[in-house]
Amino acid sequence: MYQFDRESYQRRMTWYTHDRFGMFIHWGLYSIPARGEWVRSTEQMPESEYVKFFEEFDAADYDPKSWARAAKEAGMKYVVLTAKHHDGFCLFDSQYTDWKATNTKAGRDLIREYVDAVRAEGLRVGLYYSLLDWHHPDYPHFGDRIHPDRNRPECGNENRVWERYLEYFHNQVRELCTNYGRIDLLWFDFSYDDMRGEKWGATKLMNMVRELQPDVIIDNRLEVSGEGRGSLAECRPTPYHGDFVSPEQMIPPEGILDVEGNPMVWEACVTMNGHWGFCGTDRLFKPAPMLIKKLVECVSKGGNLLLNVGPDARGNIPEESMAILGEIGRWMKKNHESIYGCGRADVEKPEFGRITQNGDTYYFHIYENTIGPIPLPGLRPEEIVSIRALENGYEIPVSTSWVHSDYPELCFADLGEDPVLPDPVDYVLAVRTKRGNC
Ligand code: GLC
Repeated sequence: MYQFDRESYQRRMTWYTHDRFGMFIHWGLYSIPARGEWVRSTEQMPESEYVKFFEEFDAADYDPKSWARAAKEAGMKYVVLTAKHHDGFCLFDSQYTDWKATNTKAGRDLIREYVDAVRAEGLRVGLYYSLLDWHHPDYPHFGDRIHPDRNRPECGNENRVWERYLEYFHNQVRELCTNYGRIDLLWFDFSYDDMRGEKWGATKLMNMVRELQPDVIIDNRLEVSGEGRGSLAECRPTPYHGDFVSPEQMIPPEGILDVEGNPMVWEACVTMNGHWGFCGTDRLFKPAPMLIKKLVECVSKGGNLLLNVGPDARGNIPEESMAILGEIGRWMKKNHESIYGCGRADVEKPEFGRITQNGDTYYFHIYENTIGPIPLPGLRPEEIVSIRALENGYEIPVSTSWVHSDYPELCFADLGEDPVLPDPVDYVLAVRTKRGNC
């Protein structure tokens, strides 16, 4: 029987709160209509119409090694792929359904290749699994708030047996936890209305999961969705509590605290454009400089960023996303030390940017230059061991200029004569202090 205990919880979360940055991948049959992964629901499309995508799906360009490489080069440390999304289609070879990649023209277990590729790059393996299932006959259709057939009285629920669906999905989770070696992260999605907690057979499910994968990290969506925090936040963890809070398409204004005021582990999942699944006409990509700052924002508030890509039907990550990943990677290459192992700083956020902290080292992320030497708020001059420009290890002197003589208690760094920052996006100073030794 699984029971929460803080010590083993913290041990299990160590890699996750260290790594901070992951890739979300939404990929499936919905990548063909290319109007987002909810297409069946938003258009109330009967499955008889959707099935043509099943017949067409061939994953012709599927090369998870290139996905894993792109993630790694961007500085991401873990990847989460949709093993099954709400349409019920499985990218893995489940023995409990025919609605799976093995039976399409792709003809193989796509999760197997993904897991191998991600592991080969030294990244952590995550799997997304939808609790909703619009394919399974025992999942409520008519009258459900979300199901594509919600308005079709002929799709009544008389002969649907909920326990049969539970058994089906528990069996599938067992396959995912058994057939692919170590799984680092399971991302269940999602609870709504009375479909939550024990309705999902959650205690039983989590006892099985924790037995098969003792170190796996799970999200909080057996209890909630992007909305709501779950029982760990209430300091009354159920056996199926999530290990982290999963805000969606937003970054919490000040991080997330539990009801006793302790900082929580959280992960913001964010799309690169406006869709999770591939959408051919959506060109509203967030620029790389913005995403770099959003990653820093998450870390400075004690959270992770799970940044999504939606490969097209053949399996190619859109070119725009690849370019953005490349740009983020170039910044990460020089500045990763200010992300990995870092978290919320114990000094106040400066006007010119943000601070992340790892032990006695403070990383000042400078977005906007100051006039004259730059103040390092919260730090006194005598506490400083060294200041380095993170991008090249260059020594930055503590300023001795007379201009800040009215602020003797504050430390200022001297960035030199050039008023333009060497990195227009985020120029990082690593400030080592004596604090740890006090
Ligand atoms: C949602 C959506 C979904 C997406 C997920 C990602 O709740 O239902 O399509 O996969 O969030 O966070």
